[in-house]
Amino acid sequence: MAETRGLLIMLLIFSEKLLLTNSKDTNVTCIIFDDCILPCSFKPTGTVVIHWYKQQIPVHSYYYNKDQFGLQNKHFSGRTCLFNSHIPHGNASLLLKRVKVQDKGRYKCYTSTRKGNQEIFVNLEVKALIHSVIMEMTDEMVTCSSHNIYPVPQVTWATDPPSAQEALENSTIKTTDHKGLFTVTSMLKILGNFSNYTYFCSFISADKTQVWTASRKKQDITHEEGLALSIPCIAPHSLQNFSFTWTFTSSNEPTVIFRYDTKTRHTFNLWEGQAELDQDLLLMGDGSLLLQKPDIEEHSGMYTCTFSGLQSRYIVETNINITISSISVDEQSVQRSWWSTAASAAFFLFTIILALPQCIKLRAMEARTASHRYNGAAFVGGGLHKDLNATPSYINGQHEVECNRQLQIEAQGELADIKLTAEECSVDLQPGTKIEQEEKPLLNVLDDTNSDAWGKSHGCILSHLYGYVRPNFEVKFNT
Ligand SMILES: *[C@@H]1O[C@H](CO)[C@@H](O)[C@H](O)[C@H]1NC(C)=O
Ligand SMILES: *[C@@H]1O[C@H](CO)[C@@H](O)[C@H](O)[C@H]1NC(C)=O
Ligand SMILES: *[C@@H]1O[C@H](CO)[C@@H](O)[C@H](O)[C@H]1NC(C)=O
Ligand SMILES: *[C@@H]1O[C@H](CO)[C@@H](O)[C@H](O)[C@H]1NC(C)=O
Ligand SMILES: *[C@@H]1O[C@H](CO)[C@@H](O)[C@H](O)[C@H]1NC(C)=O
Ligand SMILES: *[C@@H]1O[C@H](CO)[C@@H](O)[C@H](O)[C@H]1NC(C)=O
Ligand SMILES: *[C@@H]1O[C@H](CO)[C@@H](O)[C@H](O)[C@H]1NC(C)=O
Repeated sequence: MAETRGLLIMLLIFSEKLLLTNSKDTNVTCIIFDDCILPCSFKPTGTVVIHWYKQQIPVHSYYYNKDQFGLQNKHFSGRTCLFNSHIPHGNASLLLKRVKVQDKGRYKCYTSTRKGNQEIFVNLEVKALIHSVIMEMTDEMVTCSSHNIYPVPQVTWATDPPSAQEALENSTIKTTDHKGLFTVTSMLKILGNFSNYTYFCSFISADKTQVWTASRKKQDITHEEGLALSIPCIAPHSLQNFSFTWTFTSSNEPTVIFRYDTKTRHTFNLWEGQAELDQDLLLMGDGSLLLQKPDIEEHSGMYTCTFSGLQSRYIVETNINITISSISVDEQSVQRSWWSTAASAAFFLFTIILALPQCIKLRAMEARTASHRYNGAAFVGGGLHKDLNATPSYINGQHEVECNRQLQIEAQGELADIKLTAEECSVDLQPGTKIEQEEKPLLNVLDDTNSDAWGKSHGCILSHLYGYVRPNFEVKFNT
């Protein structure tokens, strides 16, 4: 018996040396960190022996009607299972959980029944999607970067108006982390005057199925006070589903002054009465902002408009310098100008006094919404909804897949403009919470431009919680 097996293994090694991949192999592409199924079926006749191998490495075995982990390689420990209830129907598919870069390769599904043996090969490819591209711009350089991609993507640059490819002096740096994922940063030298061009960078996935594009334009506008001013912001490409914001920065923190989302169709305008935006034009990609009576004190500063769509983000940064009206320079109006300054200062104070309590109230309301929403709303990976406030009970992954015990807490909401940092998301595992896991729970800040999570706005994702989890914790936003 042992001899036959030894011979068989030698034969296997020999035959695998001959053929690394075969056109009959099934090809499967798995998303890194996701669960993935390697398909395999056989003709069911009585008891079956199932062995999954990666090259010669034992991945998962099943005989005597149960899983056998004695020979399993450490690399796959706790990450494999079969669909045990489907085995009698000829299903020997392998569920591989939390796929890693190192999992790629050729797998063999060996099945043996009374009627004979069978070998099926599966080629596993892995990929990590491009989630977001961050573009930054100084007066000399434009930089685009993206993290955690696999395989390495291609980066291309373009400008509007177009310029020759040779003129785009770019350099791209690729680095890998310990998980084998790539961070790609590409830099481009600005062509002469920064305000002359809109810059585009695109990250193209290796299999060309995904293109993530970011664009940025910087401009300066000097404008006389009191005269209506339109701050241009036009999306370079038509967008269907997007969220849109105008942010204003003077000496203080950036403030969102306008927000619109095609999904919720909700409009927010902090400067109601002072600033206007045509919604019909916005839907066609023109988000220009009209300032009725720009004021030196109140309206000078940086205006940033952002279109965030599916796999794209377009940003225009406009530095607005409101200057003294040229009419008021003559002697007669010096006095008037004094008065107007005093009046506008008084108005400014008045506005602050009026707006401050409003502001505080608004913030408090938002904060309250946040904690209400996120307390205990969760789902078990795969979409089964669970109320965390329910009587504590073990979630042990009886959701279709018998061994899928990942609990993912996903907080989502409409706090689109409140950017959360990792410190602002926290998870309180309450007394009595039991976790059996290999890795530390991972708390991610969810970005609204995450291509997977379009429309989810900002939030926190708690993942990598494996094992038996007592659904007895809460996600807090410390806003
Ligand atoms: C799987 O991919 C290989 C190349 O990687 C190809 O030769 C083969 O035809 C593919 N098999 C199927 C079934 O598509
Ligand atoms: C085996 O069962 C799983 C779970 O129901 C299913 O997803 C998979 O497609 C099946 N595979 C085959 C080869 O029938
Ligand atoms: C970027 O640089 C590479 C060489 O470094 C060059 O081949 C390419 O044309 C440049 N331009 C763009 C748009 O990628
Ligand atoms: C930028 O555009 C201005 C006109 O808008 C032009 O005068 C200038 O030469 C341009 N600069 C470069 C470097 O192309
Ligand atoms: C850049 O162009 C803008 C107008 O397009 C102009 O006001 C500015 O003076 C230019 N700057 C330089 C350094 O040429
Ligand atoms: C926009 O969103 C709607 C609803 O979510 C969806 O049906 C539609 O396919 C989306 N369009 C694009 C271009 O993504
Ligand atoms: C605004 O423009 C005026 C006149 O052109 C200039 O003196 C001032 O320095 C500018 N301010 C800023 C912040 O650029």
